[in-house]
Formats: sequence, structure tokens, C-alpha cells
Amino acid sequence: MIQLQIPATSANLGAGFDALGLALQFYNYVEMEECDTIDIRSADGTSVPTDETNLVYVSAKDLYEVCGKKLPGLRLVQTNNIPMTRGLGSSSACIVAGLAGANALLGEPLGQDDLVDLAAQIEGHPDNIAPALLGGIVTAVFDGRKVHWVKQEVYTKLRFVAMIPDFELKTEKARACLPAEVSHRDAVYNLSRAALFSASLLTGKFNNLRTAVHDKLHQPYRMALIPHARDVFDIAYTHGAYAVYISGAGPTVMAIADEDNTYFAGKMRFFLDNAGLSGWQVHDLKIDNSGCQWGWGAPTGETQRQAAASETHTQSLGQDSFLPALRTP
Ligand code: HSE
Repeated sequence: MIQLQIPATSANLGAGFDALGLALQFYNYVEMEECDTIDIRSADGTSVPTDETNLVYVSAKDLYEVCGKKLPGLRLVQTNNIPMTRGLGSSSACIVAGLAGANALLGEPLGQDDLVDLAAQIEGHPDNIAPALLGGIVTAVFDGRKVHWVKQEVYTKLRFVAMIPDFELKTEKARACLPAEVSHRDAVYNLSRAALFSASLLTGKFNNLRTAVHDKLHQPYRMALIPHARDVFDIAYTHGAYAVYISGAGPTVMAIADEDNTYFAGKMRFFLDNAGLSGWQVHDLKIDNSGCQWGWGAPTGETQRQAAASETHTQSLGQDSFLPALRTP
């Protein structure tokens, strides 16, 4: 049985629409083995498709096809901690699980670049799938065939506090509201800020982040689809966030705060409650620098799934050298 741990991701990071994303220490778990039928279960009660439309299965099947193999069937046990359709990369986590798991089952015929390319082809844009596979902050350009990417590990004194509302926003809807064309001025506005974001994050110039997350390509249009997002932004800035942005396509709002802002998440819970926004969950997260990890193990289901990531033979797809990459967490 292959056991996989796949991180949640936060894409766009404000101005880096379809180009920037980072991985977070908040995980889905998948157990996978070949079998004669499709046998898909949810370990935590989350509703998942149990037929051939399941995204983990579809992605695994795609990888088998690329490698000239037929997938006979698949046994999957999914633990979906990452909430779906909330802008935290849940579908990318499924795609990455399917590809990385199938690659492991076949003895790792494909390398890291191949997996990123395949995942982007399935998802359509690279900014969630790349950090889910690789970890850290990833800058990626998908030219329609290949992804040109750089992964950078991030060791900062920052917390990423996700404010997750109790309603969904489908990515298709959040993309459909965007204009087909933008002005030259807006393009320059965004590209300068996207570049400023990663440079500032990686060099510790955190006071730049508030300017860096402003954008004119997606957030102004998506705000209208996220009731009370403006209030959440205001509350987060009032309590000292360096920057606040819509995570991915939304509706999650992400605040970046200093590690020394110890009670930031607690304050957000309290003040969101007071503002009548108790439906918004608050998760205080750190950056994951390892990306998807996997190991071989006996079927564990819910109880021992955490152990999958701590086995000394766990493979990390975020390593510079993919084959064979040994990692002790
Ligand atoms: N870059 C994508 C978007 C991320 O904003 O639509 C969502 O998957």
C-alpha cells in the first residue's frame, strides 16, 4: 500500500495570478494500491466520488496511460482535511496524490518535471499543483505544454492564517467573472507586485507584502462573490497582518502575520465572531517545504495515517533529485 501526504496550497498570493503558490502544513492523506476493481473509501466521512470520476483515480489512470500501462483498478482510502472548493488546493491535492501514487506503484518511471507537467495539464494552471508536489513557494509558467518553475524553500518567521468561510466558490465561477482583457497599466501593476512578493518574502522585507498583494487582475472582481470578505480583510489588517489576500480563487481569505504576533489567530476568531462571522473557520498554518511525500506501508486507514510521513523511507517529491530521494522529516 502506498501512503501519501499532500499539502494544501495557497495560490496567486495576491498579484501572482496563475503564477505563484505556496504549500502549507495542512494535509490530505491517501492510501493507494492496485486491485481488480475500483474500491474508493473516505476515512473521515467526507463525501468523495467512489467511481471512475474520482480525481485521484482519474489522475492515476492518466499516469498509467502515459507510461503505456493499463490500470486494472484501484483501492483508495482518502482523508480529506483540506476543505473542498475553498481556494486551498483540494483538487490539486487529489491530482498530485493520483500522479505521485501511480508513479510510485510503477516504480517511479517519471521524474519531477514530468509530474509537474502532467499535473498542470490536468488542472489547467500550475500555481496549486506545483507547490503541492514540490513544497515551498513555487514560481511557475505553464506554456500550455510544459511548466517552467522554480521552487524556493521558505524559512521565515511568518504564519499564514486561513479564514475559511462556510460556503463554497467553484473555481469555474471565480474564473468566469474575470475580464477577457486588461489594460497595459493593470498588467504592469500586477507584474511589478508579483515580483515584489517573492523577493520580499524570501529576503524578509515583510513590510512590502501589503503593497505586493494588491492586484487588478482577479481580486477586485472576486470580492463581490465572497460576502463579507472586505470585513475580514479589515479585521486582519487591524490586528497587525502584514498582508491579506484571497487564497487561490477564493473564498478563503489568507492573512500573513508575524510569528511574534502570537495571538493573531485567536484575535481573528474572536473579532470575526463579534462581527457575526462565526461561520468562518480560522486555521493558523506554516509553510510546508517538502511537498507531497509518500512511503510504503501496511494499510493504516485513519488511525496511523500520520505515521506515513515519518517513516525514514518516505520519499519527497520536493527534493532537488527525485530518484531516489530519501528524507527524514
Ligand atoms: N490561479 C487560479 C485562479 C487558482 O485564481 O483561478 C485557483 O485554482
